[in-house]
Parts: sequence; C-alpha cells; structure tokens
Amino acid sequence: MRIKTIDNYNELSEQAADIVAIEVQTKKNTVLGLPTGSTPLGMYACLVKMYKKNEIDFKNVITFNLDEYIGLPPDHPQSYNYYMHSNFFDHVNVKKSNIHIPHCKDQDPILICREYEQNIKRAGGIDLQILGIGTNGHIGFNEPDEYLYTETHLVELTEETIEANSRFFKSRDEVPLQAVTMGVGSIMGAAKIILLASGESKAEAVKEMLSGKVTTRVPASFLQLHRDVTVLVDIEAASLL
Ligand code: GLP
Repeated sequence: MRIKTIDNYNELSEQAADIVAIEVQTKKNTVLGLPTGSTPLGMYACLVKMYKKNEIDFKNVITFNLDEYIGLPPDHPQSYNYYMHSNFFDHVNVKKSNIHIPHCKDQDPILICREYEQNIKRAGGIDLQILGIGTNGHIGFNEPDEYLYTETHLVELTEETIEANSRFFKSRDEVPLQAVTMGVGSIMGAAKIILLASGESKAEAVKEMLSGKVTTRVPASFLQLHRDVTVLVDIEAASLL
C-alpha cells in the first residue's frame, strides 16, 4: 500500500485525476470503477477540464459505478445515476452503452446484482478502481458487519451511513435504507485501486484502515491485502496517522 499525504483537497483531486488520465492514455479501453460522494467531485472536475483541453479521450472507456441507492428513480437529484451524469458523464465522451450503474427499479435485485457482476467479468475486470471511504470505514456501501459479501449485493445501510448521507437530502427520513453495492471481492478484483480521503471526519476511518489489522468491522482494511493500492489523503484525513 502506498500512502500519499497531500497538502490540500485541490491537489489531491488533481493527483487522482492524473492517475486516471495515465491509465486511460495507456489503455484506451480501460475499465474504470467509479465512486460517488463529495470526495471525488474535485477529481471529476479535473477530468472534465482535461477532456475539454483534449488531453484525455474517454471514447472507449468502460465504467462501472460502485453502488446505487434502492428506491430513488435515476433522475432523482440524490441518486448516484444523477450525480454521475451531472458531474461527469454529461461533460465527457464516455459512450452511454459503456456506462454501468446498478439500478433496481422493478427488477429482482438478486438478478440485477448477478448480471452486474457478470458484466464486470465480461468487460475483462476492472483496471482501475477509485474509492472514497465512509466515516465508518465502508467502501462502496460495504458496511461494517460480522461478515462481508464478495460480489455485488443488496445491503441495508447502517445508521451511521444514513446519518452521514442525510446532509444531501432534505430530511433524514428521505435517505433510502437500502442500496446495491459491488462487494469487497468485486473491488479487490481490480488490477489497481486508489482511495481518496479528505477532511478530519475521515481521520479515524483512515487510521483504522491502515492499522495493520484486517477486520470486517472496517471494510476498507481489506485493501491491505491488495497488491496495488494507493491511498491519497489530505493533511486533515491523515491527522491520526
Ligand atoms: C457514500 C458512498 C461511498 C463514499 C462515501 C463517502 O456512502 N456509498 O462510496 O465513499 O459515501 O462519501 P463522501 O466522499 O461524501 O464523504
């Protein structure tokens, strides 16, 4: 695991975008695993800027999003589908047919999860997975628990995550209680992983992730078992290291 402490959020975003750009420039049909949340917003903004300056071409890039809430229509402003389109896809040239975001409207979630996992395999696996981290150490929506799931699955969100994510909704009651997420195995299957953490609220989770112990109580700690992980943290998120 490489840990890079970076002075501020803007630089962290630029460095994350540079890693993505190198990957895409090296392999035109790169398969990217993409996160949502407030942390990667700066990285998406940098990638859009690079695209507008013709520095990066997403024409053959394939994307798989980490997770999505259950119960929000795709055009709901807090759905991850909406987030991805408004912050990234609408401004670059990723082909619609190459975008994958798990979505369960009326379909059986088990079938959707199985199909999602098969699509990742069919695409040849994820080349570069980008992650954020929850204040409770979750990655995607793999919540701390007695056990973790390997593959894409349905999940009940924890109180802590509902509370943390309620800042995006009008009220706490509007936060969905369930989501679909790639499993820890789907994430660990990526050839390369970068994890971004910014701000003091992530300091404890970052410390636990890197503590040397691997535990299902801190899903991000499993990344210690992966052979190519870069953790980009700003000074606040690194404050307990
Ligand atoms: C959500 C997402 C995660 C994300 C986390 C942190 O719960 N499911 O993928 O990493 O929030 O988000 P933020 O960057 O807003 O702190």
